[in-house]
Amino acid sequence: MSEPDPTAAGGHLATTAAKLADLERRYDEAVHAGSAAALERQHAKGKLSARERVELLLDEGSFLELDEFARHRSTAFGLETNRPYGDGVVTGYGTVDGRPVCVFSQDVTVFGGSLGEVYGEKIVKVLDFALKTGCPIVGINEGGGARIQEGVVSLGLYAEIFRRNVHASGVIPQISLVMGAAAGGHVYSPALTDFVVMVEGTSQMFITGPEVVRSVTGEDVTLDELGGARVHATRSGNAHYLGADEADAIEFVKELLSYLPSNNLDPAPTVETAEVGFDVTDDDLALDTIIPDSANQPYDIKDIVTALLDDGEFLEIQELFAPNIVVGFGRIEGRPIGVVANQPLHLAGCLDIDASEKAARFVRTCDAFDIPVLTLVDVPGFLPGVGQEHSGIIRRGAKLIYAYAEATVPLITVVTRKAFGGAYDVMGSKHLGADVNIAWPTAQIAVMGAQGAANILHRKRIASSSDPEELRGRLIAEYEDTLVNPYVAAERGYVDMVIPPSQTRSVVTRSLRLLRTKRESLPPRKHGNIPL
Ligand code: HXC
Repeated sequence: MSEPDPTAAGGHLATTAAKLADLERRYDEAVHAGSAAALERQHAKGKLSARERVELLLDEGSFLELDEFARHRSTAFGLETNRPYGDGVVTGYGTVDGRPVCVFSQDVTVFGGSLGEVYGEKIVKVLDFALKTGCPIVGINEGGGARIQEGVVSLGLYAEIFRRNVHASGVIPQISLVMGAAAGGHVYSPALTDFVVMVEGTSQMFITGPEVVRSVTGEDVTLDELGGARVHATRSGNAHYLGADEADAIEFVKELLSYLPSNNLDPAPTVETAEVGFDVTDDDLALDTIIPDSANQPYDIKDIVTALLDDGEFLEIQELFAPNIVVGFGRIEGRPIGVVANQPLHLAGCLDIDASEKAARFVRTCDAFDIPVLTLVDVPGFLPGVGQEHSGIIRRGAKLIYAYAEATVPLITVVTRKAFGGAYDVMGSKHLGADVNIAWPTAQIAVMGAQGAANILHRKRIASSSDPEELRGRLIAEYEDTLVNPYVAAERGYVDMVIPPSQTRSVVTRSLRLLRTKRESLPPRKHGNIPL
């Protein structure tokens, strides 16, 4: 026989002490809503519990939980006998580095993390809370999609969440951590947010799982092959960071938050920095020798990126996806800046579909949150090929034009080497609205490279020459001297200045100071119609 409850008198909580003890018991029940065995399985897979993840994200002791005692009202399929507190999701708010952040964390140990009505209502509430208070929301996702037993009500709540994600887009930063398998509806809320962070080996995202794929298409794939973190970080582009483990993924989110304002009306956070000054340093001087003499020899654009940023610190976004373009955040004089840079080490820095979409998305993210964009250009053009054309490089490459042309944040562009053809226009050109355009003396701003141009312009002459290679070489040199340099553009003011690379940090820093007061707006309209 069980002991009588000392806090109760005939089931009635007669005293304040009894009521407090009852509250304590309820908290305990809420915290242990999932079974101990389920939690053990979670830990055995190298995953944390929903609450442990929140604790790791937020400043110690800062978490205030909402709706801890909310529970579902469903009676179908025997659910009325299983009504755990919290309904499978932990929601609330706290701080990260002292700044307010709203959070929800899905608990896979309760109903497999699946989303029911009350679970959905809790997420809707915390999203509304984040939106009206203007603070970032971090969603920690893991679960099996719509709670099958609750039917259409689950689907309705998903759409309520999606609508709020869309309305919050560009108003507050929205960051998604995908920490286990996220299936069905669980993937679309993350997809609508600004950043998706996954964990190697333990997190997956897919619309339909391997079982359904097998029965519909006959394809036999594992969870990881179908939607593992590495697949999304390298191929689909759905993930912006591949965490080595959950702690690493959460650390990345904290770092990301340090670059972002709390909302679109607040300034981005600044950090105190030691005065570096504008005298040319040894690190600056190293830039004067970074561009190889041969136009076809690659170099690592990240060496230039880090040379221009405070303490060489650069938080790269989507590092493993479309590596022919590099995007990420850094700081100059303690203020956040977004960097977009062609990477000559991959595909010679060509723009392809993936690179265009990656950079377009990043420029729009910076613009939405008032973070200036520094663009480093070394691009031979758009990547030619049937595959690219048939997959929509025209429509999808146009996104990058759109993103730069609608951006009203300060835009500074530095042409380090090649800026050929359409890619010259696209990569933050003066004509699209950049504020300060800088070229290095190594810049080659032209319709195309010298070799291609000489071959097209003088094909017949070269073919009929007694010494075609000698003539070709001479014509290439002539074209290079006449058109492949920064000075034709400089004559027209398409670049504002041609400077030694070693002066770039100083010029960019001083330009950013001036541009702090930039005010620019677009014509009033409902919204633009970016090619999708
Ligand atoms: C209710 C669910 C559930 C769901 C899992 N569970 N998914 N309960 N609704 N959608 C329950 C299981 O019955 C099980 O309960 C527990 O959660 C753990 O599930 P397992 O399958 O044992 O876990 P695991 O092997 O780790 O596999 C995880 C999984 C798998 C890959 C996510 O559960 C899965 O494929 N679930 C279904 C995914 C799916 O097709 N969802 C689409 C729903 S439609 P017990 O009691 O046995 O522990 C949808 C549409 C939204 O989401 C549309 C919005 C645009």
